[in-house]
Amino acid sequence: MASVAAGVPQPAGGVQNSAPLPSRAVARAFSIEDLRRLARRRLPRGVFDLFDGGAEDEATLRDNRAAFERVRLMPKVLVDVSQVDTGTTLLGAPSAMPIAIAPTGAVGFGWRGGDCLIARAAQAYGLPYSLSTSGTASIERIAEAAPNTRRWFQAYILKQREFTMRLVERAQRAGYEGLMITVDLAVGGKRERDYRNDFAIPFRFTPRNVFDCAQRPTWAFDMLLRGMPVMENLVGITPTATDTRGIASTVGRNYDPSFDWSALREVRDAWGGKLIVKGIVRPDDAIRAAELGADAVIVSNHGGRQLDGGVATLDALPGVVAAVGQRVEVYVDGGVRRGVDVVKALALGARAVLIGRPTLYGVCAGGEAGALRALEILRSEFVRAMQLCGVTSVAQIGPDLLAAPAALRVSG
Ligand SMILES: Cc1cc2nc3c(=O)[nH]c(=O)nc-3n(C[C@H](O)[C@H](O)[C@H](O)COP(=O)(O)O)c2cc1C
Repeated sequence: MASVAAGVPQPAGGVQNSAPLPSRAVARAFSIEDLRRLARRRLPRGVFDLFDGGAEDEATLRDNRAAFERVRLMPKVLVDVSQVDTGTTLLGAPSAMPIAIAPTGAVGFGWRGGDCLIARAAQAYGLPYSLSTSGTASIERIAEAAPNTRRWFQAYILKQREFTMRLVERAQRAGYEGLMITVDLAVGGKRERDYRNDFAIPFRFTPRNVFDCAQRPTWAFDMLLRGMPVMENLVGITPTATDTRGIASTVGRNYDPSFDWSALREVRDAWGGKLIVKGIVRPDDAIRAAELGADAVIVSNHGGRQLDGGVATLDALPGVVAAVGQRVEVYVDGGVRRGVDVVKALALGARAVLIGRPTLYGVCAGGEAGALRALEILRSEFVRAMQLCGVTSVAQIGPDLLAAPAALRVSG
């Protein structure tokens, strides 16, 4: 388990030797927001907005973040925090921190090969990595790129159910320990930034986005010369097996809106490993997922990209923990941008957080060095937050660290 000396945050094992040298700008990124700004400078607006944006008025996107900012802590003092252990277990196996990488699609549009680079960064930091169905690297390629990472495969249940089940079998064969079923995407969310930017996958040049891409010639030349990334897991979903781009874009349209609890049970029965249900905010749904045999639930609203007006995940967390926290592991994602956010989520009852955009911004800012930088920022902030809260292990992070009114939500 990772242990650090006070005030001297050190990279997890192997990072120093294997990390590519970061660009000056990446090395001078001190927060996830700094990496976000660098990503914005590198990418055409349409690509940046694809990653950064949410649904409709983005009220839920903003509130995910605001919910973390609303929570205040009651730090303990005069505790010996010269040694801090950030390690924990997730689904019965070790994780160097209570953090896992959330699945994100289309990463390769931000940095070619970005999925593998984020997976390698997760490996370097000893964290579980989730691969999206609509990722731009195949199940097998991720397993090759990061063989020692704990891997979870996130499946969208597509109308072509057999196709989904073949992906699940491939994940099992490739040594993925967890199957994550995302349940908050019965239909695609209305992401208006993409409409305004004329951004779609397959990518088509239009007068608006040609102008946009011309502002970022390095990105545009790379895409023109080497071709647009492909959502490799979706190869074969159509009769035109060699060109998946047309279909890959339509995960939203291919998603099966009739997918329900009984269908989830069938998936559960077909999968021998750990089952994680992602996208739950209601206690009654969490109870159903637990009864069905889920090993973990993720309190998530897809990073504010689906139902705008949905509850902030941190606000939903205590209710879900109260309902099922004794039976399954409860994780939360959406809006984690600081190490102290991990302390807040754990104090409110989460076993771990997942991060989507932080490593995405990192990889878009500077490839592997940027993804590593994102994790280093969060790791060092988390260690510092633990030390400043007077706790030396993850197990010591509890509701007693919460100031009212967050404390009231947990106690009753
Ligand atoms: C660009 C992007 C793509 C995403 N793609 C997926 C996906 O394919 N499957 C999925 O379950 N969630 C997907 N998500 C949601 C994330 O898994 C996660 O729930 C969310 O990003 C967490 O919020 P955060 O970005 O504020 O950390 C995506 C999020 C983003 C930003």
